[in-house]
Amino acid sequence: MEIVIADKSHSKYASLICDTIEESAKVRGTGIAKRTPEYIITKLENNNAVIALDGDKFAGFCYIEAWGHGKFVANSGLIVHPDYRNVGLAKKIKKVIFDYTRKKYPDAKIFGITTGLAVMKINYDLGYRPVTFSELTDDPAFWKGCQTCKNYDILTRTDRKMCLCTGMLYDPDEKKNPKEEIHEHPYNRKVLQRLKNIKQSIFLKNKKS
Ligand SMILES: CC(C)(COP(=O)(O)OP(=O)(O)OC[C@H]1O[C@@H](n2cnc3c(N)ncnc32)[C@H](O)[C@@H]1OP(=O)(O)O)[C@@H](O)C(=O)NCCC(=O)NCCS
Repeated sequence: MEIVIADKSHSKYASLICDTIEESAKVRGTGIAKRTPEYIITKLENNNAVIALDGDKFAGFCYIEAWGHGKFVANSGLIVHPDYRNVGLAKKIKKVIFDYTRKKYPDAKIFGITTGLAVMKINYDLGYRPVTFSELTDDPAFWKGCQTCKNYDILTRTDRKMCLCTGMLYDPDEKKNPKEEIHEHPYNRKVLQRLKNIKQSIFLKNKKS
């Protein structure tokens, strides 16, 4: 298995990447921002993505997006092909793209929004912390991506303050001046699961009534 910075030569995988993202969201029954093959190709051409290949078989992918004039950067669209799940590949891909993002955008805050517990755990281990949406980018172009998610009505109902996704942020300034580290107990990862369950029960109940 190799995990590399993607380029134009990987364009042939763009449709498969989009289909795998969409299929997986259907299986999970969660919302997801839609991606087109054309959009993925721009990420490849600009070297703003990481791809995992097993020989020439597609295994996984993740890309970088910059928002708010580069003040915020997201590592989005993480996908591991079902044939390669649960062996730590997502963790490796996220580590490669995280280190690459830190080099390419050293002063940017790195953030993500997700409903996925696996992603929350990985982000947490990389040094991200859960935050409210008010601490994320206010770039409308980012939030526009949520329009294609089936939970978009929740986001608009709450004036973009909260939704089923949990926001997570890596702040390089905080790492330079660390506060007392009270976060590192493994129990805190369980808190993320609880947070997710509570949000789902509140929002989805309101949605039905
Ligand atoms: C989520 C996804 C990327 C995980 O890929 P993966 O390669 O199987 O993940 P890893 O093996 O690296 O696992 C990382 C951690 O998450 C945990 N994990 C993996 N899948 C999980 C799941 N479905 N639910 C809860 N935890 C999960 C693993 O146990 C591991 O935890 P650990 O650090 O305690 O050992 C993959 O299942 C996928 O592509 N799903 C569909 C797309 C998706 O949900 N993308 C995220 C959108 S934000």
